[in-house]
Amino acid sequence: MAIEWKPLEDIKDGAVLAEDLYDGASFKVLLSKGTRINKEIIDTLKKREILWIPVEVKGENFEKIRNSIDFDQELLKVEEPIAPGIRLSVPDEIYRGFITSFKDLSEQLKLGERIDKGLVEHTLGAVVDDLISQKEYVVNLFKKHVSGFLYKHGINTAILSVMAGITLSMSRYHLIPLAKAALFHDIGLMFLSDPEYVDIGGTSNREKILQHTTIGYKILSTYGIIEQREILDAVLEHHEKYNGTGIPFEKKGKDINFYARILQIADAYDSLTSTSSEALKLTPYQALKWLLVRAGKDYDPYVLNAFIKVLGMYPTGTRVKLNDGRIGTVIRTSGAGLLIPVIMVDDTLMDLSKDKSVWIVSVIE
Ligand SMILES: [Fe+2]
Repeated sequence: MAIEWKPLEDIKDGAVLAEDLYDGASFKVLLSKGTRINKEIIDTLKKREILWIPVEVKGENFEKIRNSIDFDQELLKVEEPIAPGIRLSVPDEIYRGFITSFKDLSEQLKLGERIDKGLVEHTLGAVVDDLISQKEYVVNLFKKHVSGFLYKHGINTAILSVMAGITLSMSRYHLIPLAKAALFHDIGLMFLSDPEYVDIGGTSNREKILQHTTIGYKILSTYGIIEQREILDAVLEHHEKYNGTGIPFEKKGKDINFYARILQIADAYDSLTSTSSEALKLTPYQALKWLLVRAGKDYDPYVLNAFIKVLGMYPTGTRVKLNDGRIGTVIRTSGAGLLIPVIMVDDTLMDLSKDKSVWIVSVIE
């Protein structure tokens, strides 16, 4: 038998509860594993606003799920370094460790096996410690989510969130939960039939957003992957909008969970720059502009400011034209202001804060 999370309206009389179901407020067991669901139980759950539950499904589904999450080699490919010899903010081996541990955990979760949280916790700690030790970031993320969208997107979002969190002077004590919330924020999508989507303006799907945020919240709490309430709330609230028009609660401004306000910007930046949809994909510079026009509307301006400090006004990977006609690629910020990066020109590293005769005249979009 395998587990499948289903909305209450799809639950048939006699379905068997596959896991203990906890009350969200008291964390006491509400219904025990093995309980047969009937109409009375469904009514009670509705009153308690529990809209999705884990039920037992037959073995064919088990096989289907296993096949759908087969480990393919494409998943392990990491973006080529932008410039040889440059220290990237997140080294290859960290990415590989991250993706393996995150994927194992997701697989255990989906198949209803015992969860081994240790690996992910360990990797998160290592990433946070490594990023804390860096002054300027060479933001190297997984590009183009052709395969393994959920893992790559979760990892990229976690890395960007931690970078912003450090800029916001958050301590390690808060950075680890932030990384965790960011890593798992979209895990609910794994339980939907069409997991990849990009929440950009008109393309966002209200029902899908509602489903994946609530399922993610329930799964992470039920399986004890995340225990702290405020991190669970961050997963639930990552589609709220600063002006109060978001999902699911239409919370406004500072009422929105703080971790959520951070990770939702990282979420948007990675979705915009890494989506496999060529029609929706933006360059790092375009994505930054996209975020900036939504400051105070969709996103917390204070938090967005921290992201700009991380990325610079010309994010890593942006192609720029210089006053002498040469073309360069931005590597990182220089520490001398958001408009003055370190760039790579003709295989040579050039710090524009040191060479005053050269400056950026335009961005090649
Ligand atoms: Fe999401």
